[in-house]
Amino acid sequence: MKKIIVIGATGKLGKVVVEGLQKDYEVIRASRSGPDLKIDAFDFESISDVLASIGSFDALVSCIGGTPFKIFDELTMEDFAAGLSTKCFSQLNLAKAAIPFLRENGSITLTSGIIGDEPIIAGSCAAAANGALNMCVSTLAAEYAGKLRINVVSPSIIENSVDHYGMLFDGFEPTSNQSIIHAYRRTISAPITGQVLSLTRSL
Ligand SMILES: NC(=O)c1ccc[n+]([C@@H]2O[C@H](COP(=O)([O-])OP(=O)(O)OC[C@H]3O[C@@H](n4cnc5c(N)ncnc54)[C@H](OP(=O)(O)O)[C@@H]3O)[C@@H](O)[C@H]2O)c1
Repeated sequence: MKKIIVIGATGKLGKVVVEGLQKDYEVIRASRSGPDLKIDAFDFESISDVLASIGSFDALVSCIGGTPFKIFDELTMEDFAAGLSTKCFSQLNLAKAAIPFLRENGSITLTSGIIGDEPIIAGSCAAAANGALNMCVSTLAAEYAGKLRINVVSPSIIENSVDHYGMLFDGFEPTSNQSIIHAYRRTISAPITGQVLSLTRSL
């Protein structure tokens, strides 16, 4: 049975992903607070230490990140930098720390989001962070070709976040739990690398 580490396992997206993987994979749930592993995506040394305690594994799935949703007039450059860091740097840090422990042709899946492709008001930081992840992954795939696979999943607003984000995503079709599960299972199992699996429908 493949061993998969899901970071952000307790979040709105991570919970759906974990539920969709648990039947067929050994899933280790991680976040700053656990429940199986305590990992802070910003602390490279401690991520390495924690992953070393697991030994090798088949896939790392990152469901972490978040950006401020503010109109540009109100968004400070500190907000912007913090958003890029929380969404993009944190996930690349996880990927970098995971690489030495991945089994041959193992899989890394990062998460971006629809605002990399479609504008919303107050979404400039999300657009930049998602776009950076989407653009970065093909280069990483090329650098690690033949050794490991790395892909991005880009959901629309997900079903269980609709109430949380209110009217920010008015008119966007939410990504269903089933689509989320298919996408992350595909990046784990299918022979794909350098791809952005976009679960969005532009209206
Ligand atoms: N929700 C949506 O509709 C939606 C749509 C498209 C894309 N996305 C993207 O999906 C990702 C997850 O979103 P979400 O809505 O599920 O967020 P969320 O509900 O806030 O969950 C975030 C998860 O990440 C963990 N986490 C946060 N910071 C961490 C860190 N430094 N190190 C390790 N774990 C950390 C949290 O647990 P701890 O607090 O215990 O660390 C939690 O498990 C984000 O990148 C988001 O932009 C979400």
